[in-house]
Parts: sequence; structure tokens; C-alpha cells
Amino acid sequence: MAQAAERALFGCVRELVDRRRREPGEDVISDLAALGELPEEEIVALTAQLIFAGHSTAVRHIVLGVLRLLRHPEQYTALGADPSLVPGAVEEMLRMSVPSDHGLVRYAHTDLTVDRVTIATSDAVLLFHRVANRDPAAFPDLDRFDTTRRPDHPSLAFGYATRLCVGAQLARAQLQSILT
Ligand code: HEM
Repeated sequence: MAQAAERALFGCVRELVDRRRREPGEDVISDLAALGELPEEEIVALTAQLIFAGHSTAVRHIVLGVLRLLRHPEQYTALGADPSLVPGAVEEMLRMSVPSDHGLVRYAHTDLTVDRVTIATSDAVLLFHRVANRDPAAFPDLDRFDTTRRPDHPSLAFGYATRLCVGAQLARAQLQSILT
């Protein structure tokens, strides 16, 4: 069933790429569709990755963030009165929102033990990196939605280090623009 759904989704993406090739616009999918040197399958896969990694994540964060503001009318009013709070509000939305329940897949490069669990080299590990966004050592009163926290607090919403989300700054700009 999951494979059938995936095939259907990729069918939609393929149609989208075809349409942009016939009727190009000023957008990244038209640019990808026009790339002569890449095989078609790669263009479709890149487009799908941009849509799934970039669009649905941003949309879910907008929805959950707005919902959170509606549940905290005093912070909503404070934002309206002082737009300089927007960047901090966006970081706090990113910190608190958990829009998917699957973790990041990694493979162990070495044998290691974490909290009495032994992980062998090459084992697949699912990391729930967002749990770090609720680390009480980093975020005092961690369950409180607080748009006045420092906007540069070390949230892991976009992952970390070499695998940091390539769209992180774009997503921040989208969220800040929408809130403003
Ligand atoms: C609120 C919005 C977003 C969140 C929370 C988010 C989160 C993440 C996270 C946690 C990763 C790391 C995955 C890993 O370590 O394996 C990641 C990777 C990625 N993100 Fe985002 N992302 C967002 C928006 C975007 C946008 C707007 C784009 C592009 C337009 C994008 C494109 C990507 C891509 C292509 C990767 C894979 C990078 C790689 O594997 O090297 N993301 N994202």
C-alpha cells in the first residue's frame, strides 16, 4: 500500500515536471525541468525531495505555529504590537513543533553503548533529534511557549552540522514573512 502511494505521488511529480517543461514559469521546478544534462528520473527525484522536504515541512510548521499563537492570545497580541519579536517567535515555534513522528536515520560507524544499549557498527539508528529541543538543561521551563526566548537559542529543528537542512534560512524567511 505504501509503495502504491509512493508510485502515485511520484506520478504527480512527474506530471508537474512535464507541465513546467511545456509551460515554464519563474520557479525552481521549471529550472530543474529545463536541465538537459540530468536524467529524467533524477529531475523527478530532486523535485520530489524539494516538495516533500521543503514544502510540507514549512506548511506544517506554519499551521502548528499559528495554532500555538491562537492558544496564547497574550503572545499573539504582543507580536502584533512589536514585530521585532517575530524572529524569536519563529525559533520558538520551530523548537516546540513536532510535525512528524519519524526520526532521522543514521548508521553507526563504530560500536557504541548509549544508556546501556549496545549499538553495533552498521546498525541503523533512528534519532529523534527534536527531543533535544525539549532539553531542560538548554531550555528552562521547556513546556512553556515563550516567544521572548533568545532567538539564537540552540534548537535542533533543522538538524545539525553537515546534514543541516539546506532550506533552513529559506524556511525561517518564510515563517518570519508570514508572521510579520
Ligand atoms: C520548517 C521547515 C523545515 C524543517 C523543520 C526542516 C528540517 C530538516 C531537517 C531536520 C533536516 C535534516 C535531515 C537529516 O539530518 O537527515 C532537513 C534536511 C533537508 N531539508 Fe529541510 N526543513 C525545513 C524546510 C526546508 C526547505 C524550505 C527546504 C528546501 C526548499 C528543505 C530542504 C531540505 C533538504 C534538501 C534536506 C536534505 C539535506 C541533506 O540530506 O543533505 N527543507 N530538513
